[in-house]
Amino acid sequence: MNKKIKVSDVSNLISTCKEQIKFLENSIRNKNKKYIEKNLINAATALKILSSNMNITDFDEKIKENVENWWALRTNKKIYETIKSKSIEELYRNIVDVYETEKTRKVLFEIEEKYLLPILPNLKNKNVLDVGCGTGRCANIFVKKGAGIIGIDTSREMIEIAKRKIKNAKFKIMDARKLDFPDNCFDFVFSSLMLSHLRDWKKSVKEIIRVAKKDGCIIISDIHGAVGGGKTRSMKFLGNEKVFSINQYPIFPSDILSVAKDKCQIIDIIEIRSSEFQNKMGYFNNETYYQPTLLIMKLIKR
Ligand SMILES: C[S@@+](CC[C@H](N)C(=O)[O-])C[C@H]1O[C@@H](n2cnc3c(N)ncnc32)[C@H](O)[C@@H]1O
Repeated sequence: MNKKIKVSDVSNLISTCKEQIKFLENSIRNKNKKYIEKNLINAATALKILSSNMNITDFDEKIKENVENWWALRTNKKIYETIKSKSIEELYRNIVDVYETEKTRKVLFEIEEKYLLPILPNLKNKNVLDVGCGTGRCANIFVKKGAGIIGIDTSREMIEIAKRKIKNAKFKIMDARKLDFPDNCFDFVFSSLMLSHLRDWKKSVKEIIRVAKKDGCIIISDIHGAVGGGKTRSMKFLGNEKVFSINQYPIFPSDILSVAKDKCQIIDIIEIRSSEFQNKMGYFNNETYYQPTLLIMKLIKR
């Protein structure tokens, strides 16, 4: 299939070239031989696309291999053997120690928070539920904004960290698909990067809507369904020196709307492109560069 670069993409391509050259300069400055080679290829590829308006599927195989081998790039190591996780609980037991510090996730969190913070409702003295709260990364933000927080999660290990980190909040082990709370009791219900773990994630969206108060706010944030071509995919998670994988299920804005449209008003749909992530991580995959990678939806319960 022949795909030509659109004129409207040119300014983005120039930014990509600049970014790639910056990475190359850094690796030369740091005398990092492995990175010099990879970054040189990335910069050359970006420039090649820009300058020749080339057929972007027509890469030389060696370049393509290097550009696409971003897993090795981001870990700065040889590709690890991947261990398939038997359950979500087992996955998080294995990665809990580095959950908030591993570079890939840190970058993802940074980008998510950049878009999330401006759309948060007023949280002062509000009743907030964080569904799939993990180590309390977002609960911590909400507490600092004056909210009363309950975080729920199925991972004992993740919750233990949240409890240690945030003293003035409550955390419980609970399944997001069967919330043990009455109807209409939270001013704000939030869920980040949890739903796509669940084949039957729609059950959890229904529960989230059920426990939100009338006029209460709901924000759902997750990996965009477009990642992996809209198919169920095996996602990799870097733990302590090991890589674990687990299935992830695609979620598109229309899927959420199909569950929420009768009960909620849609306030915001934010689709964040992979380019933001790739630029920060220092790799370039031309096939996914413009695709959405994160989805944030803000709803108000009617
Ligand atoms: C990627 S982490 C996200 C944690 C946190 N929301 C954040 O954004 O940092 C996904 C979390 O969802 C939790 N989780 C997965 N399935 C769940 C379920 N059915 N009910 C509640 N929590 C679940 C996991 O244990 C894990 O802590």
